[in-house]
Amino acid sequence: MSTRPVRPRGKGSAWILAFVAFSGIGLGVLLAVGCAVGANECPFRPGPPSAGDARGIWLRSCAACHGVTGKGTRSGPSLISGKFAALTVPELEEGIARGKPLSGMPAFRRSMSPEEIAAVAAYVLGLRPGGPTASPTSSPPPGGPRP
Ligand code: HEC
Repeated sequence: MSTRPVRPRGKGSAWILAFVAFSGIGLGVLLAVGCAVGANECPFRPGPPSAGDARGIWLRSCAACHGVTGKGTRSGPSLISGKFAALTVPELEEGIARGKPLSGMPAFRRSMSPEEIAAVAAYVLGLRPGGPTASPTSSPPPGGPRP
């Protein structure tokens, strides 16, 4: 016959549960506030892509054909010398969005947002030897000149 006293253990675990629940909510609130003020730590920030994102896009989507440094490969021309180096930011954006299906340049307007296209266009500009060339409508790459 069991005479073991039944230990009331409800209170303790309830507190632990409450603690876990509240720290979870606290974390959520912190993230939400962080996102609201545009903090960089926000993991699901929907804002415009940063310079780092542009580099990621370039490496993921463009470098295979245009090379990591933009000087081209057998699959794509140089964007930092020759005729394509003269393109302005709006021309770059247009070229990236529309692509040139007949010559092997994919169109990115379906797979990339206008912000991403703008960011990667600015990134291309930053790859050029003289850095971003001055053109009336060009904007410097986000994050300033790279070393
Ligand atoms: C599958 C290979 C390939 C990929 C991937 C690719 N390109 Fe191209 N790209 C080309 C080729 C080939 C051309 C040359 C088109 C021509 O001869 O007119 C080109 C041309 C361009 C041009 C000039 C377009 C114009 O208006 O004349 C730009 C700008 C450009 N690419 C940027 C990019 C960017 C940015 C990415 C990534 C988002 C990218 N490309 C991805 C192959 C590629």
